[in-house]
Amino acid sequence: MNATLERANLQFAGALITTLDARDEYTAGHSAAVAIYSRDIAARMGLPEEIQEQAYLCGLVHDIGKIGLPAGLLEKPGALTLEERRQMQEHSAIGERILRNVDEYSEVATIVRHHHERIDGEGYPDGLAGDEIPLVSRIIAVADAYNAMTSNRPYRDAMPSSTARHRLGQAVGSQLDTDVVMAFEAILASATEDYRLARAPEFQFGRDPRDDESDDGDASVAAVA
Ligand SMILES: [Fe+2]
Repeated sequence: MNATLERANLQFAGALITTLDARDEYTAGHSAAVAIYSRDIAARMGLPEEIQEQAYLCGLVHDIGKIGLPAGLLEKPGALTLEERRQMQEHSAIGERILRNVDEYSEVATIVRHHHERIDGEGYPDGLAGDEIPLVSRIIAVADAYNAMTSNRPYRDAMPSSTARHRLGQAVGSQLDTDVVMAFEAILASATEDYRLARAPEFQFGRDPRDDESDDGDASVAAVA
């Protein structure tokens, strides 16, 4: 029963993220990568399985608040103005509000709220510092930063994994948590290149082209419509 509910939960989170993908091509693939990296970091840190699963779920939904951003903001090519950047930063608080409505998700909501805090207290939305930031939020921050750097974006090419890892090292103690970065570095040091660049099959969540041909789904939608 519990396993079934958990699966439904994850599927629902996946469906939400796939919805967001319709607006922001980058987010679904990015969310799957952050979920997997966050789970693996939690495992490497020796955290209980329950926390590993929580890290996965939170990674999947960490940017869900982007659904609530003003039309055009996510889609805008090129650099953002200061005001647009401020609006963009609201996505973590919006995400918290969305998830707060789901029973049993209050911790998930809190973790999502704080995924852009920084160890030095210069992050948002609350300027929490060090251990004030929930551990899983600190884990997501590292996975998020790394996958963002190693992904192609409209305004720049992906960085090689080695460069991104060097940058993570430089951000330790200011932006990122030392223990979390060390755990991730240990994982990446012995990982395959497919894992380092989130190209392994397990990263293809919600992006499988075969999904588009599921005629059963289409038929039932057409019938309802
Ligand atoms: Fe985010």
